[in-house]
Amino acid sequence: MKFRIALVPGDGIGPEIVQAAAEVLKLVAGKFGHEFEFNTYLAGGSALDKYGIPLPQETIDGCLAADSVMLGAVGGPKWDQVPNNMRPEKALLGLRKALGLYTNLRPAAIQPALAEACVLRPDIAARGFDLMIVRELTGGIYFGERGRNEAGDAAYDTEAYSVMEIERVARRAFETARKRKGHVTSVDKANVLETSRLWRETVHRLGETEYPDVRLDDMYVDNAAMQLIRDPSFFDVVVTSNMFGDILSDEASQVTGSIGLLASASLGDSSRGMYEPIHGSAPDIAGKDLANPIATILSAAMMLRYSFDLAEEADYIEKAVADVLEEGWRTADIKAPGQEDWLRGSEMRDKILQKLV
Ligand code: IPM
Ligand code: MG
Repeated sequence: MKFRIALVPGDGIGPEIVQAAAEVLKLVAGKFGHEFEFNTYLAGGSALDKYGIPLPQETIDGCLAADSVMLGAVGGPKWDQVPNNMRPEKALLGLRKALGLYTNLRPAAIQPALAEACVLRPDIAARGFDLMIVRELTGGIYFGERGRNEAGDAAYDTEAYSVMEIERVARRAFETARKRKGHVTSVDKANVLETSRLWRETVHRLGETEYPDVRLDDMYVDNAAMQLIRDPSFFDVVVTSNMFGDILSDEASQVTGSIGLLASASLGDSSRGMYEPIHGSAPDIAGKDLANPIATILSAAMMLRYSFDLAEEADYIEKAVADVLEEGWRTADIKAPGQEDWLRGSEMRDKILQKLV
């Protein structure tokens, strides 16, 4: 099968890790008889430097014309002082909106080979956990009306959700749960926020009418933040708003202790998705060949699974990564204390490529 993939490396370590993932994809394409065509586009600080804007139209058009998008990361201290509407992060938000990617899947699980990296108390970690955060991605306070008063001494941001916006992401959560342990926890702040009350009502109505087989419960976001550390094994699928999902997914990823391994998928109504590692652009280690390419390589596997329906190929990549970790190979971010024989980013990439040939 033939697919067009837009590569958006972005800033910092983005180019290194996207390059590694593209090599994995090329090898897998050859092995399974597919053809992947790659086109690279600028976004974030790198686009700002070259074109004076963080998200050039050419990038939006290129991504819209592609079958899927692979993104590295955007941002860095170099652009901390630019005006708000020019910030590199605007590129990410703009792409999500332009591509209609209203669902963000962020899995966080303890990797058996890396259990020692988990920051939880050993008796809690021993219960294991494997959760999928389903975050609403194109609505809520991220995209609501905002502003300041004339004097500039007061500001506001608005959280707004419609039933349609809640239903479509909730549906994705229920469908995801059906393929997992059949349990959805809807996270909100319904004891305070009106949007949360609508969120809760809507998720329940959908659950009762269309997904009675899925176990559904609710949790306030403050409690969810606590339970993620107290007993993450409780969770299967968590569905929540844009901002709560932003915060909880960072927490969940750090709880695994191996943020350098975590992938994500952003999806809409079409099969076109955007795939990116959960970690950021890590400007402090950019260009030093220290970045762990695994999260991006696993994001490439998610692309094959969710956008191209190539489950066998996705399994093949995930197994190669698991095997390399099982053999004890580590990059600097996940090495055991005192481990001397850790790999540089390109060496980890090559270890994985060797498993794939
Ligand atoms: C994320 C990031 C972005 C977000 C930033 C960079 C705008 O934190 O993908 O979680 O808040 O969505
Ligand atoms: Mg975030």
